[in-house]
Amino acid sequence: MGDSFPVWMDCDTGTDDAVALLALHALECTEIIGISTVSGNSTLDDSFRNTRGLKRLIGADYPVYRGAAKPLMMREKVHATEVHGKNGLGDVELEQPESPEASDIPAWDALYEAAVKLEGNLRLITTAPLTNIATAFMKYPKLPSMLHTILIMGGATQEGNCTPCAEFNIYADPEAAQIVLKAGAPIVLCPLDATEKVMLTAEDMDELAACGNEAGRVIRDVLQKPLEFHKKLHDPGVQMHDSCPVLYLAYPELFDTEEAGVVVETKGGITLGKTVTDLYSDKQFDFKNALVCLDVDEKEFIKRLKELIKSIK
Ligand code: BDR
Ligand code: CA
Repeated sequence: MGDSFPVWMDCDTGTDDAVALLALHALECTEIIGISTVSGNSTLDDSFRNTRGLKRLIGADYPVYRGAAKPLMMREKVHATEVHGKNGLGDVELEQPESPEASDIPAWDALYEAAVKLEGNLRLITTAPLTNIATAFMKYPKLPSMLHTILIMGGATQEGNCTPCAEFNIYADPEAAQIVLKAGAPIVLCPLDATEKVMLTAEDMDELAACGNEAGRVIRDVLQKPLEFHKKLHDPGVQMHDSCPVLYLAYPELFDTEEAGVVVETKGGITLGKTVTDLYSDKQFDFKNALVCLDVDEKEFIKRLKELIKSIK
């Protein structure tokens, strides 16, 4: 493993999850130990199949696990197929690996086993509703203290993207998010404040498609559906939310951060899933449970993200 960080990624692949996973694969300072999948942008089956398709695309050998098919409590499932397409991957169907996964143990057990083996060194990146991670924390109460860091894409200190208050990953399973946030693990939170600022434009997508590797071409193809969605909102491109925790791991200097107390609203009607922080109030919580990314050097971020994708063999 040398000097690289062992990393676990939990995702709901997902058009921007796909870019994040490919960027993580390309980073020289990381070694992917395992990937777990969860219901989110589309169904668990779609997340699992899309993630396995990416694994075949890049010839990777890390294990992919299935996790939760629905939220922790008796909540309705929420998907984001209007952004990510019916199959979650912009309606692009990727060829599957020839062999099935070697193990079909659930995501939470596999994550725990990896954390035990890696003795405090495992970095966990989450780019999806936090159902798998909350399930793991409830089953293995020592797990939060066994992780080096959790880097979470989720939340918003201002307005949301799923409701006026809430960001999608938190809204889709607010109880799970609250369990993870209060578990006592070292957390880096990447909310919409930073993640909405980093966008790949149509020109960036064409540039990636022309770079000569399959990853670049697939990224251009899967991002066409979200590009249509964002055009309707007059956005200049597609937001690369899920690449934020990945790039934070390698290039934290690109982000402005602040320690904060963060709590998820789990009872409210209109405010369900809101990440309430004490960042802008005179009234402070009596804890600081996350380092929150509030801003990012957008130009440098996109430059490095494109370099990573182009470097994939
Ligand atoms: C988050 O929601 C999902 O739709 C994206 O993949 C990202 O993880 C952004 O709110
Ligand atoms: Ca995602």
